[in-house]
Amino acid sequence: MTNIASSLKNKSKFLILGGGFSGSFFAKTIRKLGCIALTSSRSEKKDPNSFVFNSENNSIPSERIFDGVTHILSCIPPGKNGSDPVLGSLKSKLKSLSLEWVGYLSTTGVYGNTKGDWVSEMNQPQPFQNRSHKRLNCEKEWIESGLPVQIFRLPGIYGPGRSTFEAIRNQKIRVISKKNQVFSRIHVADIANAIIYLLQNKDSLKYHQIINIADDEPCSQVEVIQYCYDLLGLKMPKPILFEDAKNELSPIAQSFWMENRRVSNKLLCETLGYKLIYKNYKVGLNNCFLNIEINKNK
Ligand SMILES: NC(=O)c1ccc[n+]([C@@H]2O[C@H](COP(=O)([O-])OP(=O)(O)OC[C@H]3O[C@@H](n4cnc5c(N)ncnc54)[C@H](OP(=O)(O)O)[C@@H]3O)[C@@H](O)[C@H]2O)c1
Repeated sequence: MTNIASSLKNKSKFLILGGGFSGSFFAKTIRKLGCIALTSSRSEKKDPNSFVFNSENNSIPSERIFDGVTHILSCIPPGKNGSDPVLGSLKSKLKSLSLEWVGYLSTTGVYGNTKGDWVSEMNQPQPFQNRSHKRLNCEKEWIESGLPVQIFRLPGIYGPGRSTFEAIRNQKIRVISKKNQVFSRIHVADIANAIIYLLQNKDSLKYHQIINIADDEPCSQVEVIQYCYDLLGLKMPKPILFEDAKNELSPIAQSFWMENRRVSNKLLCETLGYKLIYKNYKVGLNNCFLNIEINKNK
């Protein structure tokens, strides 16, 4: 972290469009390095670092928000019509700024179903779900925008406050098993830190416009849930076979089980040399568990 801090300019100002789970984590991380970071949300917040942006009712940030902005990170999913909400509302504004860098959080859903095989940035996207077609369209819009954009393809995001622990506590957990099915995932701290790491490496943007950020060990949901129950000292309910559970799942939940892929992080971690903080779900969930314990004792 110290090396990173020394090379990011203190005067950098980041606008994080979509200050949700990943966006606000990124903002907190980059502020610790001395940068300014403002985050958007669709409704007014008390936080002085927050501003309103809502593409759906055309709530556009005021001029003052854009003053001195050097970096943009968009964490907003595709709009209902399949195009990008940020570019739809702010493209000409963004193009008028002297931006050094624009980041876009995308998903590994664009790769479609690889039937469990590894997939890398070299593979042609083969979106399967409607939402993944929309996402690929948004990536294309960003690439064609002429902005200095870098796209990060992310698998399932988890971290403190959003993990299997919360699903267990809120009784939203379903222990489902499907033979040979794996999911890739990433801890939110690794999204923030990998992006900051890449920001230090000018060549990363020059040569790599699309980068996967995923951990080292795709694995089954049951393994992850079992690990959480073990940490909590509770007994995991008996897994239900996917075939028996599928009719009770929401269409969106069902759709996640229709794709099976292992997302490669070789470009990020081998070629570009980023060292994951949480290389697998165990270390990542230990961090989430510790966070719960700390909050309990506050
Ligand atoms: N969650 C995952 O597991 C996952 C996996 C892969 C990729 N992704 C993608 O990665 C990105 C970040 O994910 P996340 O889970 O951190 O996101 P998140 O917590 O759901 O936050 C999304 C943000 O986008 C804002 N937003 C949504 N629609 C908007 C619109 N029409 N106009 C303006 N703002 C809008 C939301 O505003 P409010 O704050 O007002 O709600 C929120 O700040 C998203 O594009 C997501 O689809 C997510």
